[in-house]
Amino acid sequence: MATQDMNAALFDAVERELARTQYPEGFPALPELPTARYCDPEFFALEMRHVYRKTWLYAGHESELPALGSFRLFEELGQSIILSRGTDNIIRAFKNTCRHRGAALVTEQSGTAKRFICPYHAWGYSTDGKLQSVPEAHNFACLDKAEKPLLQVRCESWRGFIFINLDDDAEPLADFLGPLADQALDFPLERMSVKDTIRVEVACNWKTAYDNFLEIYHVATVHRETIAPFLNSKTFVVTPLPNGHARFTTRKKIEALYGTGEIEGLDERYKSLTVGLPRFPNGFVALDPSGFNWMTFWPVGHDKVAIVSTIFGETRDDPEEEKAYWTQFSEYQKVILAEDLGLFPTVQRSMDQGDLTAIVLSCQEQYLQWYNEHIDRLIGPENIPAHLRVEQVMAARFET
Ligand code: FES
Ligand SMILES: [Fe+2]
Repeated sequence: MATQDMNAALFDAVERELARTQYPEGFPALPELPTARYCDPEFFALEMRHVYRKTWLYAGHESELPALGSFRLFEELGQSIILSRGTDNIIRAFKNTCRHRGAALVTEQSGTAKRFICPYHAWGYSTDGKLQSVPEAHNFACLDKAEKPLLQVRCESWRGFIFINLDDDAEPLADFLGPLADQALDFPLERMSVKDTIRVEVACNWKTAYDNFLEIYHVATVHRETIAPFLNSKTFVVTPLPNGHARFTTRKKIEALYGTGEIEGLDERYKSLTVGLPRFPNGFVALDPSGFNWMTFWPVGHDKVAIVSTIFGETRDDPEEEKAYWTQFSEYQKVILAEDLGLFPTVQRSMDQGDLTAIVLSCQEQYLQWYNEHIDRLIGPENIPAHLRVEQVMAARFET
């Protein structure tokens, strides 16, 4: 769709949402979500096997691998994976596992190296994963170095954002993102770089935390002074997209959501609307010219989540202004996050105790239903105990 048509459609949609006084006509009544999905270790094991081990996951950004030979570790989900920008400038992902007896090759979180040398017996690998050197090689009866490269993990980039997939047979990243990627076509993502990373662990299921960032219903109470003055929550429009993704559109009350950011040549609609992009299974970002918080929710166990906020934006010319701006931006994100965080353990306790057996959803919270339906499609409803399944009511109506 041409930008102008898209803008007209979006502005029209938020105006219609603002005028709406009844439950939306033709939209399905949402069934209650069983809270056991947020507590049961067996359901968690199904999510790990069928969702997290088979889906494209955000692992890092190209700006974090600035030089030839740059590497950094991705260590969520109990994994240790090296993201490497090879000396050939190709970005790859490898299991951080030496092919001799399994020691971790890389022990620093990030750095630059021309080769990876194992700290155990000093086998040496090139940055494209080839086993190049083996001390005292004559002591191995029949070691063919060509057969022992580093174990490669599927790795593809989308406009600077690096994704990995633990399933070798997964569809290409572009197919997985599909129409989600089109929502940001006119936003100059290539000019963005990582400004800060905030990581907090919270004692709750990953979905308990994730759900909070997927609706605007709580903004008027929880973020009364921080977000509510900037966003008109009565204009929140959810557009379900295939593969469990969606787009959220909301009208701003004030142009810049977080500050004074400007991006030259950016389409006008980003001044008056926020475009939120929830990305299956564990990502959310609201694109904003003043900078944005790319959020990822990593299960640490069935009862623990790591929330990672990666702050992105355009680099300012003046180094002092750059530092001051992004420090303030990060501090503001921490304030908003703190407003949310205290709620999650109380929600989790209500579910764990069995006091709350089901969650009631409004149409404004429809994305919770949408991504939960997609989780079930990936696991296969036949593999899920009946009391844990969600009904596929939105799938019956929207393209999956
Ligand atoms: S485990 Fe790496 S060289 Fe032995
Ligand atoms: Fe919130």
